[in-house]
Amino acid sequence: MDITLDRRGGEPLSLLPVIALLQAHVPDVSQPAITDIFKPLGTPAELAKTAALLVNYVCLGIFIVVAGLIAYAIVRYRQKPGEDIHQEPPQVYGSNQIEIAWTIIPILIIFVLTGVTARIIAATQDAKLPKTAIKVTVVGHQWWWEYRYTDLGIVTADEMHIPVSDKSEANAVDITEQSVDVDHSFWVPELTGKTDVLPNRNNHMWLDAHKPGLYLGNCTEYCGTQHANMLIRVLAQPKAEFDKWVANQQKLAVGANGYGTAVASASGPAGSVHLQNVSMGDGAPAELGGVPIPRLTEDKRVFESLACVNCHTIRGTPAIGKFGPDLTHLASRTTIASGMIPNTAADLRAWVDDPQTVKPGCLMPSMKLTDKQLDQVVEYLQSLK
Ligand code: CUA
Repeated sequence: MDITLDRRGGEPLSLLPVIALLQAHVPDVSQPAITDIFKPLGTPAELAKTAALLVNYVCLGIFIVVAGLIAYAIVRYRQKPGEDIHQEPPQVYGSNQIEIAWTIIPILIIFVLTGVTARIIAATQDAKLPKTAIKVTVVGHQWWWEYRYTDLGIVTADEMHIPVSDKSEANAVDITEQSVDVDHSFWVPELTGKTDVLPNRNNHMWLDAHKPGLYLGNCTEYCGTQHANMLIRVLAQPKAEFDKWVANQQKLAVGANGYGTAVASASGPAGSVHLQNVSMGDGAPAELGGVPIPRLTEDKRVFESLACVNCHTIRGTPAIGKFGPDLTHLASRTTIASGMIPNTAADLRAWVDDPQTVKPGCLMPSMKLTDKQLDQVVEYLQSLK
């Protein structure tokens, strides 16, 4: 299976070696991916850019002065024809002016940089978030991210949805960070600076996004074998779209009672079928999005008979495991395996069949399912819109 996908829709990644390294396995999910660290689109990232630019300009100034003096000395004092190569140049000791200058100037530079940095850190940390700010607990796991929307009653993984913050409406995400195992670090370059995610500790940060789009990030603290594939995807949506996503995520799993009802979706892609959590009564449709209901029920029964339920939760079903990602609305996500591969039937099947070939070292074992079981599990998971 080819998992090295070009997420830029044909544009050669070779032009962007650094970004390619950083995002080697980000699949193409036909959303504009935003990764330019020099174009911040969130308030904390904009503030950080101000400090970073100042430091860089000061360093550039120091470099020009030092390199210039070295170049001048090399040219001015090079050996001239006829000079005695064994003669030592004149030795100069102690110039009060020079020594005072090279003590005072660096102190002043450090003083200015410290002051500016402290002001920006304080401005970021003390920022008053709008009342509409959404509370999200970001939980680092080896090697995926869990997003708990504590006030909204949503638990999801791999993809964090947030409302855009623009002139029409200020929004922000108030983030608490926790880790269930080792140290991780949460970084979405366009939106905010890094914050470590540590076990036995609540760290705090916040972010906002000024433009809709998909923002990519990485875990930036080495946390084990699949650290590099612990990708972050933040999808900033207009508020109305975000609210729609929330409403869907808040529902119990589709077919929580073993059944569902098919409803034409106004929001989904043309021809898609939106599954709602409604028990099948008399006169319920015979199929869901082309899948006959008895088959889906059988799929669900098979899934629930497997050890999958010990690690995964599907709200409204007997699956209540907490170790792996919550799968309640798995089919509404564009990627799986922490943003590593697209959430298609083929990729999902390969993943369930043997996660170790897709993401070596990951903590999900192969359940050694038969081909039939694989088909059934994938079909069931794909119904969890
Ligand atoms: Cu998590 Cu590196």
